[in-house]
Amino acid sequence: MKILIQNIQQLLQIREHSVAWVAGKEMKNLPSIKNAWLLIENDLILDFGSMDAFPKIDADKVIDATGKIVLPTWCDSHTHLVYAGNREQEFVNRINGMSYHEIAENGGGILNSAKKLQATSEEDLYHQSVSRLKEVMQMGTGAIEIKSGYGLTPEAEMKMLRVAKKLGENFPLTVRTTFLGAHAVPSEYKENKTGYIDLIVNDMLPKIAEEKLASYVDVFCEEGYFSVADTERILSEAKKYNLIPKIHVNQFTILGGIALGVKYNALSVDHLEVLDKDDIEALKGSKTMPVALPSCSYFLSIPYTPGRELIDAGLPLALATDYNPGSTPSGNMNFVVATACIKMKLTPEEAINAATINGAYAMGLEKTHGSITKGKKASIMITKEIPSFGYIPYSFGSNLIDTVIIEGQLIS
Ligand code: NIG
Ligand code: FE
Repeated sequence: MKILIQNIQQLLQIREHSVAWVAGKEMKNLPSIKNAWLLIENDLILDFGSMDAFPKIDADKVIDATGKIVLPTWCDSHTHLVYAGNREQEFVNRINGMSYHEIAENGGGILNSAKKLQATSEEDLYHQSVSRLKEVMQMGTGAIEIKSGYGLTPEAEMKMLRVAKKLGENFPLTVRTTFLGAHAVPSEYKENKTGYIDLIVNDMLPKIAEEKLASYVDVFCEEGYFSVADTERILSEAKKYNLIPKIHVNQFTILGGIALGVKYNALSVDHLEVLDKDDIEALKGSKTMPVALPSCSYFLSIPYTPGRELIDAGLPLALATDYNPGSTPSGNMNFVVATACIKMKLTPEEAINAATINGAYAMGLEKTHGSITKGKKASIMITKEIPSFGYIPYSFGSNLIDTVIIEGQLIS
């Protein structure tokens, strides 16, 4: 099946030779062709070029994209999309003055979600997650990372990861899974955190590795959750099973978790709402992608990751949603891109690079996703008629995505 998209006003993020990521000043460069065509065959990008040199092409389906922009689908490298129920009551409690920390200390937060998830059947959890996944696909997400971390028992963590894997099998988008058993200390282990880490190390990690349920390992490295020493123990044990770290660090407190992540060759360090000079120095020269989650900052009214500073220091930056029931009940990458421009002072070019090729890198998909490159997955989106691509973040409340094609399949 060949799909030809022609008369494209501008085809964005074209890379003849795919890059692994873009960093520093390079992030301002978003290569493109004006007045372009793009040819898809089955699930792959076959060819593209300028309408000025338009070869004769026999296609099964032709889409006219006059006045429209075409770009790769979003690569959302950090989500907790598999969860049960919601935490709307905590949202109202915060409006009425309780803090995110107070809610967590009173049995709300991650433990509240864990209680709900443990009581939810695998089938029900799958169905709840499917509706979220369909929504994000319609909004242009073509590859996604999904974490466990609301199970907090061996059975419930595995249930989450099985659901996440099944989503990847049953839908066209690519799913990468991450084991986040160290998301919070369950109440039964309140006085015995070491006992819970023992359970992660001796029981959960071997089972998850044995059943190949995850590619990555994550830890919430934060005061009141897991210390740098706890994180190091988990990362070093996970290494024995070839689980690569992608960790939650520097959301509220600077603890030195970024340097630890770099030491363990973390693929990404995520959140980074608070950062100091040592953190930035630790990232320089590393292969670790810093990931900002601006919708989380928006929803919790906490600082935005100093993305401008990171890019100006010559580093790369990826953007992701953090879709979860507590701190970010939204999987909208269009909002993430807009918020990164509005609140973090990224240019539209930088934000689009951060949400495509750099997001792909942050989940190990840079060879197959994140740019318009021959042989990469045919995961692209076509906007409505808009004056230019800067209109995507500028019109932050509008849905400007008209058509989404994920791995060659038209999403409706
Ligand atoms: O990335 N910070 C840790 N974990 C999630 C949110 C957890 C929750 O409130 O459910 C996050 O923001
Ligand atoms: Fe998160």
